[in-house]
Amino acid sequence: MKRSFAYRALALLAIVLPLLATSACAPRADDGAGDESTVVIAPALLPAPASMETRSGQFTVQTGTPVHAQGDAASRVANRFVAYLGMAGKPQPKLAAGEGEGGIRFAIEATRPDASPEAYTLDIATDGITVKAADERGLFYGAVTLWQLIAQGQGERIVLPALYIEDAPRFGWRGFMLDSARHFQSVDEVKKILDAMALHKLNTFHWHLTDDQGWRIEIKQYPRLTEIGGCRIPAGDGGKDPKTGAPRPYCGFYTQDQIRDVVKYAAERHITVVPEINVPGHATAAIAAYPEIGTIDTPLVPSSEWGVFPNLVNTEESTYQFFENVLGEVVTLFPGAYVHVGGDEAVKDQWEASARVQQRMREVGAKDEMAMQGHLVERLEKFLAGHGKRLIGWDEILEAKLPAEATVMSWRGIEGGLQAARQGHDVVMSPSSETYLDYLQTDSPNEPPGRPATITLEQVYAFEPVPAELEDSQKHHILGLQANLWTEHTRTFARLQHNAFPRLAAVAETGWTPAAKKDFTDFTARLPAQLRRYDAIGLAYARTPFEPSIAVEDDRAAGTARVTLGNALGYAIHYTTDGGEPNAQSPKYDAPLDIEVPTTLHAAVFANGRALAPASVFDLSAASMLTRTDETLSVCPDTGRLLLRLEDDGPADGERAIFNATIFYPCWQWNQADLDGIASIKVRAGRIPYYFQLAHDEPHRTFEPAKSPLGELEILGGGCKGHTLATVPMPAAPDADGFLELDAPLPAGTSGKQDLCLRFTGDTRPQMWVLDRVTLRPR
Ligand code: ACM
Repeated sequence: MKRSFAYRALALLAIVLPLLATSACAPRADDGAGDESTVVIAPALLPAPASMETRSGQFTVQTGTPVHAQGDAASRVANRFVAYLGMAGKPQPKLAAGEGEGGIRFAIEATRPDASPEAYTLDIATDGITVKAADERGLFYGAVTLWQLIAQGQGERIVLPALYIEDAPRFGWRGFMLDSARHFQSVDEVKKILDAMALHKLNTFHWHLTDDQGWRIEIKQYPRLTEIGGCRIPAGDGGKDPKTGAPRPYCGFYTQDQIRDVVKYAAERHITVVPEINVPGHATAAIAAYPEIGTIDTPLVPSSEWGVFPNLVNTEESTYQFFENVLGEVVTLFPGAYVHVGGDEAVKDQWEASARVQQRMREVGAKDEMAMQGHLVERLEKFLAGHGKRLIGWDEILEAKLPAEATVMSWRGIEGGLQAARQGHDVVMSPSSETYLDYLQTDSPNEPPGRPATITLEQVYAFEPVPAELEDSQKHHILGLQANLWTEHTRTFARLQHNAFPRLAAVAETGWTPAAKKDFTDFTARLPAQLRRYDAIGLAYARTPFEPSIAVEDDRAAGTARVTLGNALGYAIHYTTDGGEPNAQSPKYDAPLDIEVPTTLHAAVFANGRALAPASVFDLSAASMLTRTDETLSVCPDTGRLLLRLEDDGPADGERAIFNATIFYPCWQWNQADLDGIASIKVRAGRIPYYFQLAHDEPHRTFEPAKSPLGELEILGGGCKGHTLATVPMPAAPDADGFLELDAPLPAGTSGKQDLCLRFTGDTRPQMWVLDRVTLRPR
């Protein structure tokens, strides 16, 4: 079979993802991973330290290297350090008694009185290593730095270069929020996240424990919160026993003993846990358990849907006391300074419609519903302050009068944070546009379910928590930043890790490293070493940022394809066309390839001669030219609101199909499909639950009206405002495998390149048809 390749001058094709245009120069430094015991590792620390000076000479760490620590605090750090080396399968230095000579020494020593308690120094000299700090926290971060250096190496003897690091974090709040309400994680999984946080020098774990879909923390006075609020019946087939069809609940909560265990585990890693109990909205599970705290009389259940719900707790004094009682137990479990009370997305329809709430508003002098929410927040703030705690809430709490001591978490961009800081409130920046990790990180078809407005590693890295326009006198109010991982679409722990890493490394660097020292190219040069650390500790980070992207411009008549490969992080790509696995000696991609079909292209992304992820396999064949999937089709113009990457609801156990779908208007477009010689179009469709609560966005939900009882598949040429090519009525249900094949003959004479618009008509709730694959069938 003849295969020819022509290397042509690069002219980026219109269909190439915009990402490809960004990186002309690839980051390439040695990641320092020594495969030989004599190789001196090249420090690739992440986050980058505030200052590092390399010196001449080296020191070798191996099993048995003595570790000295004096006093309880230094001994605790030394123990954790050795345990972390064990976790990464690295040589085990040996804890030795007392001061000692040589080896590794951890010491608490007074430094400058104004130094951060998280500051440390690390001195690697030819005769030994010394980690010093005034506080155990700083000593721990010095140990993490040393761990990172050792974890870069391979083999029995890790040779470190002599160097001196003086380091301290930029921000005191370096946070990660985990949503354990929508999907639940085991205690061991939470602990694994805490270890990963510690090894990134992150220090604040915001634990989202209550929401519409689940109440996950045991409250002794209110057992129904977890008995009833801890279980939901997942939508569709996912919530049915496959054998009997009986409801199959999804349950989970943490007992108070488990919470104490997690809090202790976190504290040992110098992480403070901030619990969130969300009021007055995102409270359906609580209201389902105790209907007397709700606003409406209709009974509720913990929801199996996602989005913004109308359900609010009511404004009775007894309900205030209910939440004071809840917080009374919460404050005994979490020793940290902050308790988060939510406050986000509390649409006020129920309060507006409730005569009783309106009466309460008059009683307390609340001028509107937002002021009423402010009244509740003020009350909880007083309660928490009385227990020595500080209240923090989402930025909506700023829309009412807010106690001066309250801290604001800015999520709807940075505006709320900016305003709050100007009003003298402390602020944590956590904008959804840059720090939400349920937004997917690449356009790869290998991304798990989530929100596909992508937030790339580079975007996360570029986020600056202190707005330039904030007056200098108020800048101290910006406590730091936080990344949030919502889990509506994150059903498994593997997917959770995929969404969090490596993007959390970018958050960690912004939180720790001086702004002037941040540099994305340098970050990507250090990243491969971080991936090796992830591998060493068994962290299931995302491989998708380390895949090549592909754009294909095919010429069916000529049997050729012009292939443009790319990697948004700028790493080198090597490829093969003979079916073999690419290695660093395989041809390096540097310009679009003209390929004769059929060819199987293998391509992988490399740094320092090592593939960063398994090779991607691209089948370029006559059949692939005639096929597109939901991932490779475009979103229909003007109708692309709320694109989601959604998982099927079945099978109840095992792998489920994933679909890209715009839920306001289910529509997919094949740009410039070549219809010459095409007789019909075959569409493979799936069907998933329509499980969204849109609140005030509901009117934006549009769809073409159905022309037959069950709606139809419509195919148009010339785009979605063009001419109808085919209309196929939909059946009542898909086939037993959950899919359906539809065949749509085209009118005689259909030809040329056209934007092919494919959409499903009708309001098909509680389910929706989604496109899986479309195939052009030649005459
Ligand atoms: C949020 O994302 N609703 C805080």
